Amino acid sequence: MSLVRQKIWSHGLTGLARFLEEFFIDVTKPSRKLKFLRGLIYANYDYVVRFPKVKVFDFLSVYPAAKGREILMLLHRDERWSLSDLETLYLLALISMRQAPKIFEIGSAHGETSYAMARINQDTHIFSLDLPVDDTVAHQNKMRWKNTSQEQQITQLYGDSRTFDYSPYLGQMDIVLIDGDHSYLTCKSDSAKALKLINDKGIIIWDDYNALEVQRAVNELLPTENIFQLKGTGFAVLDRSLADLPSEIS
Ligand SMILES: C[S@@+](CC[C@H](N)C(=O)[O-])C[C@H]1O[C@@H](n2cnc3c(N)ncnc32)[C@H](O)[C@@H]1O
Repeated sequence: MSLVRQKIWSHGLTGLARFLEEFFIDVTKPSRKLKFLRGLIYANYDYVVRFPKVKVFDFLSVYPAAKGREILMLLHRDERWSLSDLETLYLLALISMRQAPKIFEIGSAHGETSYAMARINQDTHIFSLDLPVDDTVAHQNKMRWKNTSQEQQITQLYGDSRTFDYSPYLGQMDIVLIDGDHSYLTCKSDSAKALKLINDKGIIIWDDYNALEVQRAVNELLPTENIFQLKGTGFAVLDRSLADLPSEIS
């Protein structure tokens, strides 16, 4: 079979698979089997080859002003949910440089990152959204920042990121961290919301960009948005304040 016929065959199957996948996600709760099927679908030719990939840059080549900056962070973290130490370091460096007053985090877990972000700058306020829980008080008591002096800097919000009413926060956020449900459709929806949440110098950070479904949602924005990955991390970043990105790719 010629290469062209192979491509037509792959795209045809992919188109059908994408239709079925989105149809099923809309009408059923994704079970483990469906997730497995979706994993197979994403590992195909279309997403690997057809969509452009983000460029990878070293943090200091994009943010040279961070060189020599002291960053206060705790190495003892909840490894099940949290960002890696390098990701936390870069995130805190960005907050420290911008003195970011307002941050929106989609996906709080136990508040490890909310707490770290609040500690780096006492003028920062964090709005952190997670799914509603049955026993809200018990859940809140497990939050890392509970009964600390950072508690007043964090507003815990509850709701599904796909349907949450973001209207009080639109256009105000200096940083939006997307770290909730990592499925393609939710990530795509969270990305659209994040683009409306940031101000004209704002930053969007997607965690787990290396996950195929997150990658697909982010890569689909590339024709209109300047997004790059930070070397050594799963962070994909869109920074409205950057006029240019460095020319060399690390
Ligand atoms: C990886 S954890 C977040 C970790 C946190 N950002 C940190 O660094 O400590 C993902 C969180 O997203 C939440 N989540 C999953 N789907 C969500 C949705 N649709 N809306 C809001 N939160 C969601 C989960 O309950 C979970 O607590």
